[in-house]
Amino acid sequence: MSAAFLFAPFFGIVAHAAVVHYPPASSTINNFTFSLDGSGSPGIFSSSATPDKLYGEYNWCNMPHVRDREYKTPSKDFVLQYVEVIQRHHKRTPYGSNTFFKEDVTWNCVGEGVLSGLKTSRGPGSDAADIQWQASTNPFNPWTTTVGPGFVGSTCQFPQITGEGLGDAITHGTDLRGVYAKRLGLGSRFDPSTSQIRVTNNVITSQVASGLVKGLFPQSTGIEVFVQAPAFDSLEPTYPCNKANSLKTTITTGNANWTNHLSASADLYAKLDSISGIATQDTGGWHVSFDHYYDNMSAKQCHAKTLPCNLNDTSSCVTQDMANTVYRLGNWEYSHQYRDAPESAQYSALKYGAWMLELKGHLQAKMNKSSKLKYVHNIGHDGSVSPLLGFLQISNMVWPGMGAEVVFELYEKSKQRDSEFFIRVLWGGQPMETSTPLGVLDMVPINNFFAYIDSMVGSGSELLAACNSN
Ligand SMILES: *[C@@H]1O[C@H](CO)[C@@H](O)[C@H](O)[C@H]1NC(C)=O
Ligand SMILES: *[C@@H]1O[C@H](CO)[C@@H](O)[C@H](O)[C@H]1NC(C)=O
Ligand SMILES: *[C@@H]1O[C@H](CO)[C@@H](O)[C@H](O)[C@H]1NC(C)=O
Ligand SMILES: *[C@@H]1O[C@H](CO)[C@@H](O)[C@H](O)[C@H]1NC(C)=O
Ligand SMILES: *[C@@H]1O[C@H](CO)[C@@H](O)[C@H](O)[C@H]1NC(C)=O
Repeated sequence: MSAAFLFAPFFGIVAHAAVVHYPPASSTINNFTFSLDGSGSPGIFSSSATPDKLYGEYNWCNMPHVRDREYKTPSKDFVLQYVEVIQRHHKRTPYGSNTFFKEDVTWNCVGEGVLSGLKTSRGPGSDAADIQWQASTNPFNPWTTTVGPGFVGSTCQFPQITGEGLGDAITHGTDLRGVYAKRLGLGSRFDPSTSQIRVTNNVITSQVASGLVKGLFPQSTGIEVFVQAPAFDSLEPTYPCNKANSLKTTITTGNANWTNHLSASADLYAKLDSISGIATQDTGGWHVSFDHYYDNMSAKQCHAKTLPCNLNDTSSCVTQDMANTVYRLGNWEYSHQYRDAPESAQYSALKYGAWMLELKGHLQAKMNKSSKLKYVHNIGHDGSVSPLLGFLQISNMVWPGMGAEVVFELYEKSKQRDSEFFIRVLWGGQPMETSTPLGVLDMVPINNFFAYIDSMVGSGSELLAACNSN
């Protein structure tokens, strides 16, 4: 049965959402027994480098992306017209929001300060100085030590992209340039009439843009990037959606598999808490998911730092086995929230529906020749890429690591008179396998793809109403 037939009720009439959840494939990632009691890490967690022969494997520190070496060029009948990329930012320091984990590992960012400041395109402000922020503490300020030891001895912003993460962003841009500059005719200077870059309100995405632009448009130094206000940003995303919030509760605290995974992990939590000094009944979110422990350990390991030890007893440290178990459980959590839970498709549809409507608009505008854009690049978060993967109902969900990338390629195939459009969606550089009737997203007729989007999200006003329901 063709995908067009399955979505046929949605053709020709006003778009109307009717979300169907297609469960993911079974793997070690969504096998809870294996996640808790199995062994090994679910990929590379120790370095940004993936050996060429393993490229495409999960690397939390630097996920695989489109590169010349692995890129599959379709037959000459298909002409590439438009590319839209969305990626997670590159590797960074941990977040500073919870400072109770007494750190014995410091972060050095001397000479790697975040850029701030202002320029104008007119008048003497056009070459105003670039200003970098250098994080500092002063022992005469008594609050310095109360906010948490994580800040003392470190010279980074928490969070900021590290020097190594910036290097990964440059390589990412260079690799994309290697594939797309010649195919789309992109110059070495950023041209806003054919290319756009978009970031979120979280400055770490602009830090990645600094590196990306250096690799992608090597002749450009200062450029403007797009950002939407937090009240409606679809990329991060931060637009309000009550229904998505209540579905998230249904999927987590209201779901037996979720609550069981936390209680079944009590022994592991007890070991980690005794090392970190975090209270079992903490209010900082360390015990509602493995997110905080995962992020804290993986950020260190990706930068070749040691796993943390107890500050009072430096012989009591997190072992690699404990860290690997946290990494397996973290991936299980993402698969559960975005793919395995029955409500995950509807949740993802609401969470990422606005960005998908924008993507559809870009593709349509290209097809009807009202847009000259050839290349659009979005820099977001794991909270962006995850609901996108949930929306597309990827077969094998993972926690999208640093730099994780999805690419939408629009192709035109000319017949004698009319032309037809097709879409290819690349995840980690290769066509994405989904559990939907669309199957592998490799040259899917564009109307089938649009019909799928419509079935998930409907029209913009329908999305607004769905978000405001309950
Ligand atoms: C899940 O993993 C466990 C432990 O490795 C294994 O015994 C079991 O067969 C797996 N279940 C499935 C459905 O693959
Ligand atoms: C990791 O620990 C540091 C230092 O206590 C803390 O600032 C940071 O918030 C932690 N990371 C996360 C993701 O909670
Ligand atoms: C829990 O997981 C099992 C198997 O993975 C699944 O059959 C069941 O429907 C899930 N239950 C809930 C409430 O998600
Ligand atoms: C270290 O010992 C002090 C005093 O007993 C205690 O308050 C603190 O929580 C301990 N820190 C850790 C990380 O266990
Ligand atoms: C082309 O498509 C865009 C996006 O859907 C739409 O806004 C625009 O009105 C269309 N223009 C024409 C000439 O059909």
